[in-house]
Amino acid sequence: MAGKVLPACKPYFLNSKITTGILRRIIKTSLCTLLLFSVSLISYFVLLSASYNWRSTIATVDLLQPTNLSHIVFGIGGSARTWHRRRGYSEFWWRPSEMRAMCGLTRRRLKRLVGGEPALRVLAAGTDRHAKHSAAARMARIATETYGLGIEGVRWFVMGDDDTVFFPENLVAVLGKYDHEQIYYIGAPSESVEQDEIHSYGMAFGGGGFAVSYAAAAALYGVIDGCLERYAYFYGSDQRVHACFSELGVPLTREPGFHQVDLRRDVYGMLAAHPVAPLVSLHHIDYVHPISPLFPSQLDALRTLFNAARTDPARTLQQSICYLTGRSSPVLNWSVSVSWGYTIQLYPWIVEPNQLEVPFRTFKTWRSFRKGPFGFNTRELAPQTCPASVH
Ligand SMILES: *[C@@H]1O[C@H](CO)[C@@H](O)[C@H](O)[C@H]1NC(C)=O
Ligand SMILES: *[C@@H]1O[C@H](CO)[C@@H](O)[C@H](O)[C@H]1NC(C)=O
Repeated sequence: MAGKVLPACKPYFLNSKITTGILRRIIKTSLCTLLLFSVSLISYFVLLSASYNWRSTIATVDLLQPTNLSHIVFGIGGSARTWHRRRGYSEFWWRPSEMRAMCGLTRRRLKRLVGGEPALRVLAAGTDRHAKHSAAARMARIATETYGLGIEGVRWFVMGDDDTVFFPENLVAVLGKYDHEQIYYIGAPSESVEQDEIHSYGMAFGGGGFAVSYAAAAALYGVIDGCLERYAYFYGSDQRVHACFSELGVPLTREPGFHQVDLRRDVYGMLAAHPVAPLVSLHHIDYVHPISPLFPSQLDALRTLFNAARTDPARTLQQSICYLTGRSSPVLNWSVSVSWGYTIQLYPWIVEPNQLEVPFRTFKTWRSFRKGPFGFNTRELAPQTCPASVH
């Protein structure tokens, strides 16, 4: 019985020549088909991955390129009333062949300026529905509108006023530390505490300039109009942008090189003891005394600082301290503080570094012209503390 069952289990047809022939042909055909199919599939994937890799390699290589000026689009807000007077300041930092900018001005005066300023394009934002606040609303929209234009190769949108001067190399160095594909809102609050109390310590004051990463501009793009409606009662455009970023849950990244300069009178003390960080911007230059007593006009005074900055941008206003002690010179103990490109202070006595790095209070607060408080420590400029200074 078992002998009869077993052959049934045997694949007997293998013994048949015809079946084998058919089988061979079937196998051959399927093998061929399989081979062809595999070859095409493999080549498809190879090509696909090759082209994919090729594309992503290009993108990666591009991203790995360090941030430079060509990656920044400036948005300059101003009024036509002040533009002609203040445009002189732009000569210090504006480089038409290397930089790109959008300029938001009040529409009424638009015609006069178009063509008059070939280096700057005027942004005609449709913000008339924000009625009496349309100027501030337009400024607030500079970043998102510029984003909306879809300009190639932009990583950062940097806002400023027409009386803001930038130090371009330092701006690039600061922004280069951050990933523009992440959401960043970078700037600094006001120097005058009274201003921070009124507005916010967490707000980038617009005149000092602030930077919005590409990703942040994309996020802002979708919500800005709603924000402008909701915060129509605010005075400034920078407040609206801040309020909008708060809705998105984006905090301010503070960079001490941005300077709103909410100060009055003489800013010498602040410039002579700048924090150890690249100097990115200065603002309100029309509202403070010329930064050097050697020049009656601010334009000329600033020119000397920019001449130095062109030679060595990273070191501009950076403070260095040294001492000539009694050991090296038996008659003198001298302290020397250098603010690169700006001033040297000589003290014929020893002043500790933790004192030297505190700015002299040569200025007043922005709103009330008081002695303080400021967002940093200050020391009094009394005759007994007064150094000899050289500009
Ligand atoms: C800026 O970076 C881009 C690459 O993203 C590069 O093509 C360009 O040459 C750079 N420009 C300068 C002035 O280095
Ligand atoms: C210089 O300072 C040293 C140490 O602080 C002190 O001993 C010395 O008398 C000072 N010299 C002068 C000339 O003041």
